[in-house]
Amino acid sequence: MSDLLKFITCGSVDDGKSTLIGHMLYDAKLLFTDQKKALELDSKVGSREGKMDYSLLLDGLMAEREQGITIDVAYRYFTTEKRSFIVADTPGHEEYTRNMAVGAAFADLAVILMDASQGVMLQTKRHARICSLMGIRHFVIAVNKMDLVDYSKERFDKIKKQIRVLLAEFDYDSAKIIPVSATEGDNITKPSKIMAWYQGETLLQYLEEVNIRQDTGTGDFVMPVQRVSRPNHTFRGFQGQIEGGCIQVGQEIVNLPSGGRAKVSRILNGDKDVEEASMGQAVTICVDREIDISRGCVLCQGKLPKMGNMFQVKILWMEDSHLVAGKNYLLKLGTRTIPAVVMRIRHKIDVNTGEEIPADEIYKNEIAECEISVADKLVFDRFEKNQALGSLILIDRITHMTAACGVVEEALQRSGNVIYHQMEITKEIRCQQLGQKSAVIWFTGLSGAGKSTLANELEKRLVAAGKHTMLLDGDNVRLGLNSNLGFKEQDRIENIRRISEVAKLMTDAGLIVLTASISPYASDRRKARDIIGDEFVEVYVSTSLEECERRDVKGLYEKARRGEISNFTGISSPYELPRQPEIVINTEEHTLEECVDSLYQQILNYLN
Ligand code: ADX
Repeated sequence: MSDLLKFITCGSVDDGKSTLIGHMLYDAKLLFTDQKKALELDSKVGSREGKMDYSLLLDGLMAEREQGITIDVAYRYFTTEKRSFIVADTPGHEEYTRNMAVGAAFADLAVILMDASQGVMLQTKRHARICSLMGIRHFVIAVNKMDLVDYSKERFDKIKKQIRVLLAEFDYDSAKIIPVSATEGDNITKPSKIMAWYQGETLLQYLEEVNIRQDTGTGDFVMPVQRVSRPNHTFRGFQGQIEGGCIQVGQEIVNLPSGGRAKVSRILNGDKDVEEASMGQAVTICVDREIDISRGCVLCQGKLPKMGNMFQVKILWMEDSHLVAGKNYLLKLGTRTIPAVVMRIRHKIDVNTGEEIPADEIYKNEIAECEISVADKLVFDRFEKNQALGSLILIDRITHMTAACGVVEEALQRSGNVIYHQMEITKEIRCQQLGQKSAVIWFTGLSGAGKSTLANELEKRLVAAGKHTMLLDGDNVRLGLNSNLGFKEQDRIENIRRISEVAKLMTDAGLIVLTASISPYASDRRKARDIIGDEFVEVYVSTSLEECERRDVKGLYEKARRGEISNFTGISSPYELPRQPEIVINTEEHTLEECVDSLYQQILNYLN
């Protein structure tokens, strides 16, 4: 069996993409089958000894499918005597960028089609930029429709120069420029008689011969652990695909992030014992002693990859809703999935020109450079150095859809030098001294719902019962700590983050904290819960918009309706209902007294 080339074709309908592929397949009388077959083949030529490898579907960006995104990418399989191919065909409608990105993530090489009569256009640049972002290092530029420019060598040379200028913007390993006519078949599978001035390979020949394999076995050994295999109590093996270097039985490996060391006692490729294994192979590794290795760990040797919890990434935003700084997601990198926050949007990148444009918000199909912080130490590398440890996806925490895909550009200094200090006087001691259990009672609801009033009444009861409390009222906090924040989405996110962190510190002091802020976004309340932990008690003050507007204690609804206040919750900015709050208080059906009684009784359950 020959080896396999996975490639993507980029070009709009007018560029003759279908004609080109169709011609190639037809001319060479190539076998055409479905995706299932393609996978079987991929498995055969891969390192899995012919076994169907479903992880091919799930690896890296292929997790797209798991995430439930419908992507319009057709994978076609064909084979020649020299090589087998899978081509990802992405139709050119409005979802194009995303489809292309997904196709490109799977491919080793991109065939970019362009029209000889038009020259290098914006979309040629866009295609090259997306492919490069997704890590493609090998390009073929098929200068099509040579028949329309009289097969002119001068015209081709001119376009070639334009292409070289474009390619100079990217890092790549190989780039081939071929003059073709898809309709006439010149230089597709057979050398063109008319363009005898072109001495190079035809498109198919080139695709059959191009060397896309990275050197296997050189570089340092890296294997993200995908699964711990424990079929019985005598066997414990760590499975994954080797993403760099090679490994031999007897060599010492380091497990990251823990840093534990052990010697390799066995390497299994399928169910066969082997002495060594190298990059690209999926293996099971056993070690000579018990060290704590689990899914998401990375086994390494030699120069270790970086570890950290903040880095700069370049992402392609894929979600319908836009990105603002402060939003939190799940980040999947290698085999690890952990909570992450987009701390800062540096700028977006014009996909056509490459220009960096300042931006606070990133919309679907836009590319942006951002700073991301993750909840725990993560093993990663720059994408250029290691594709597996340098590419990531962001997953929406509520819908579980893939929100973005991207690459790690560089590590940012943060944690390394800031280390949590374990104090001798602990939270437990402080709580003990105060004679209470700390908690955060988090009131949420529309402006005017009655949050501050209820929180105030509840605090009075708690204090009367001998409790030590603190009330963080939204309006009051905004007059001090958060006086630099307004009501735009990213400001509210930051407002809630700061209140969560302050509340957390106060629980460390042993206090019962009451917070009263609209906190309109479900994801922010969830993040507050993550920060605060088990002590978080969400109280939804359920008062309808109509009732809040009728009460209009501060006269703000009237102003908002007149358009004098922008982004007003309930009027011109959303309020996302809590799905499972611990407590719901309905202020429309009960008197204040009844509400406070009920609230106090329920809260006691969380304070004992
Ligand atoms: S939150 O959305 O960030 O949680 P927060 O509770 O701190 O809001 O502040 C809400 C209070 O600010 C409201 O009760 C109201 O008095 C005032 N306010 C001023 N402008 C707005 C606005 N655009 N939307 C909501 N509240 C506003």
